[in-house]
Amino acid sequence: MPEQAFSELSAAIARLAVKREAVILSHYYCRPEIHEAAHFVGDSLGLSQEAARNPAKVIIFCGVHFMAETASILCPDKKVVLANLDAGCPMADMVAPEDLAARKKELPGVPVLTYVNSPAAVKAISDVCCTSANVAAVLKSLDASQVLMTPDKNLASYAQKFALDKEVLTWPGFCPTHHRLSLDEVLRLKREHPQAVVAAHPECRPKVQAEAHVISSTSGLIKRCSEGAEKEYVVLTEEGVLHPLRKNNPGKIFWTPKTPMICPNMKKISLTDVLTALETLEPEIKVPEEIRRPALRAVERMMAVPRD
Ligand code: 13P
Ligand code: SF4
Repeated sequence: MPEQAFSELSAAIARLAVKREAVILSHYYCRPEIHEAAHFVGDSLGLSQEAARNPAKVIIFCGVHFMAETASILCPDKKVVLANLDAGCPMADMVAPEDLAARKKELPGVPVLTYVNSPAAVKAISDVCCTSANVAAVLKSLDASQVLMTPDKNLASYAQKFALDKEVLTWPGFCPTHHRLSLDEVLRLKREHPQAVVAAHPECRPKVQAEAHVISSTSGLIKRCSEGAEKEYVVLTEEGVLHPLRKNNPGKIFWTPKTPMICPNMKKISLTDVLTALETLEPEIKVPEEIRRPALRAVERMMAVPRD
């Protein structure tokens, strides 16, 4: 889309957002033009926190379905609109409430720690939620010798290192965007850029994590790469983070895998979708009360634990 069309659309979005008294939230993995149109850009935890604290009555969510559900769980009195209803998360779809209920029966007394990248009905039968930004702290806060973690097996393997007094039982879920990255590609990047800091998201597979100098959530990686004194970084997470990294750190070099790490669902959201969402205030995401109330318990228990 030509630059002028972008700026005209962005201006129309800004005008309508004021009229609707709406706040536009974007995850870092959305397209750069969505970051620019949003009032707040963040990772999963940051977006949940902003949804809860922002006084706007309407939230236009630029992210995937589970994120808008989390906003609805936290803010039942606000109208939460997902900019593009097709934006789902394949990892969230890897855990169904019936399957988790069956597994819980096999593990009586074992608390369930569920990544926010999950359906609301799964959160509702979990003890506590986490994001990649607070997983270690939440896991450590649980008084149990075994914990079942859903749905991301890679995040579970990362978290296990922070709680050696516990056994973390895993669920066979993963993020296709991060899990796809191979060890060979990371070793090649390290050979070609031996001076670079290797920064990986914990959704990457354990062999990839083992090669990283820094493992952190999306906003944690952005902070580390922005504040670090080093000049070069190998960035092993969704490529949306490159927009703020390059914009705010013109003197630094960010290397990425040959096959870009792209979340196709986050990229579905266009400026036209945002404008249409503001015009129609549809599609609204509203979690039914009988699911929202137990899900809120798990989300609030997470929010009470300070982030890393
Ligand atoms: P964070 O935003 O918590 O880093 O999670 C990454 C992700 O995959 C979001 O869908
Ligand atoms: Fe889901 Fe992965 Fe996309 Fe995040 S990056 S929304 S976990 S598929």
